[in-house]
Amino acid sequence: MNNSNPDKHREFKVVAIYGSPKKTGNTSLLLDRFLEGVAAARKSSEKDIKIKKITVRDLNISPCRECCNCSRTGECVIKDDMQQVYKELIEADFLAVASPVFFTTVSGYLKALIDRCQRFWSLKYEHKKKIITKKRKGIFISTAGSGSKDIFNCPKKVIRSLFDVLYVDYLCDFVFNNVDSQGDILKNKKAMEDIYRFGKEKAF
Ligand SMILES: Cc1cc2nc3c(=O)[nH]c(=O)nc-3n(C[C@H](O)[C@H](O)[C@H](O)COP(=O)(O)O)c2cc1C
Repeated sequence: MNNSNPDKHREFKVVAIYGSPKKTGNTSLLLDRFLEGVAAARKSSEKDIKIKKITVRDLNISPCRECCNCSRTGECVIKDDMQQVYKELIEADFLAVASPVFFTTVSGYLKALIDRCQRFWSLKYEHKKKIITKKRKGIFISTAGSGSKDIFNCPKKVIRSLFDVLYVDYLCDFVFNNVDSQGDILKNKKAMEDIYRFGKEKAF
């Protein structure tokens, strides 16, 4: 009888999307902490965990032109850095998306990336073509200056709709309001610890 674990040595790719314009912004700090947890899990995991960081502000991603080429072909006509991001989004086994709240939604950098995922919407709903077959999960990380938790309602909806076209289950979110100045999130020791633990123990 073969008792070997089929997951053993299988590559498991965690794709982390940094949506803040700031390198050490609050959401970037949270996402870094999450990845530190993932890196710690790697030591004890039987899976071959790989981490891919996508820093949106460093990429050249044009907004969607609404040319509807993807409705016809399933492909995007714009040949920029998004072509590489498509590949990573398809390959991901776990997706972590981080963005500050800007005018009640996600950052402009991230929104451009999300709108370019219209090709995945076309593939799923117009072409009825399932190009992503593996089961995967994802989380959303966000901070906002506002005192109200409701401020995350809109960005959560945006991320849920992104995850829907990518066949990613929305596992949970880590959202913190009353976080405005750079580094404010570091004062919330529980938040930093919780997200680390989640990366280490619960993400897989
Ligand atoms: C352009 C801009 C728009 C913002 N809009 C909102 C908003 O609508 N609601 C809110 O609560 N905070 C808003 N903020 C505050 C940010 O969400 C907050 O400072 C957040 O912690 C920044 O995260 P980051 O450091 O990861 O970039 C805005 C900040 C900027 C720069």
